[in-house]
Amino acid sequence: MPLPNGSIVQYGDIVLLIGKDRRTFIRTVTEHQRFECHLGYIDYDDLVGTPYGTQAPTHLGHKLFVLIPHTDDIVRHLQREGQIIYPKDLGYIALKLGIRPGIRVLEAGTGSGALTLTLALLVGESGHVYSYERRANMQSRAIANIRRLDLLDRVTFHQRDIADGFDERGVHALFLDVREPHHYLEQARAALRGGGFFGALVPTANQVIDLIQPLYNGPWFLLEVEELLLRAYKTTPARIRPDDQMIGHTGYLVFARAVEREDRSEPDTLDPAGEDEPDDDTSRAEE
Ligand SMILES: C[S@@+](CC[C@H](N)C(=O)[O-])C[C@H]1O[C@@H](n2cnc3c(N)ncnc32)[C@H](O)[C@@H]1O
Repeated sequence: MPLPNGSIVQYGDIVLLIGKDRRTFIRTVTEHQRFECHLGYIDYDDLVGTPYGTQAPTHLGHKLFVLIPHTDDIVRHLQREGQIIYPKDLGYIALKLGIRPGIRVLEAGTGSGALTLTLALLVGESGHVYSYERRANMQSRAIANIRRLDLLDRVTFHQRDIADGFDERGVHALFLDVREPHHYLEQARAALRGGGFFGALVPTANQVIDLIQPLYNGPWFLLEVEELLLRAYKTTPARIRPDDQMIGHTGYLVFARAVEREDRSEPDTLDPAGEDEPDDDTSRAEE
């Protein structure tokens, strides 16, 4: 069981411990070992049997809430190398790719495994994630992160440059988080089943342009370019207002559906209403 489902702490549970100062710790409850932090230590043996949602005392008398972490907590605490996909984007990506229990989904690059673990949690025991990464050190980091959540049996890791293609065929969805995703569209289309969901995250508008053009001309439909802005609020009851700082930009999200179609290098014809200029519209929604 990757994350606890029970109402009391058991050995092997991944728990979130948090004190009044809001510093959070995610740990695995391990026999004969102890959790230590700036507020003191708690023997895990004493934590077993504690109801979730209650407080456990450290040896110094400080109290920590014992909670079940959610995916957002897990991603924020990942051991990471390099940039990960932020939780605000992860949830939406999963929604747009139609991720659900039982499906097969492919991603590259693995990086630290933030998307990998999100997908692995969502596809359940009957689904599977195939993850490609060309750098061995990144892949090792991701494998350690996925192992910690006990999700390794849901993921197949490939160490390979995706320029050499994907082994899988007929996957339900495919996501690219690599520097130049437009170079790998042929490989992506070959792995996806007809109608499959394609997505990519790119940090710059220039990369969006590089990606949109071949998607528009190739065997793809329902192109979308989106960006998510998330603003958090201070929660002091008498002074509820936006936080002073926010993450201004993470990346652009590009989505499309894999289809069979003749190569299109000519501009679209006008839509039935005749309102759109052919060169301005890349959505194809009216086709
Ligand atoms: C931004 S990181 C991915 C982060 C990951 N999605 C996450 O959420 O943790 C990009 C990764 O793609 C890998 N990469 C870049 N180009 C690649 C290629 N052509 N084939 C395989 N991996 C590639 C890089 O080594 C890097 O680890």
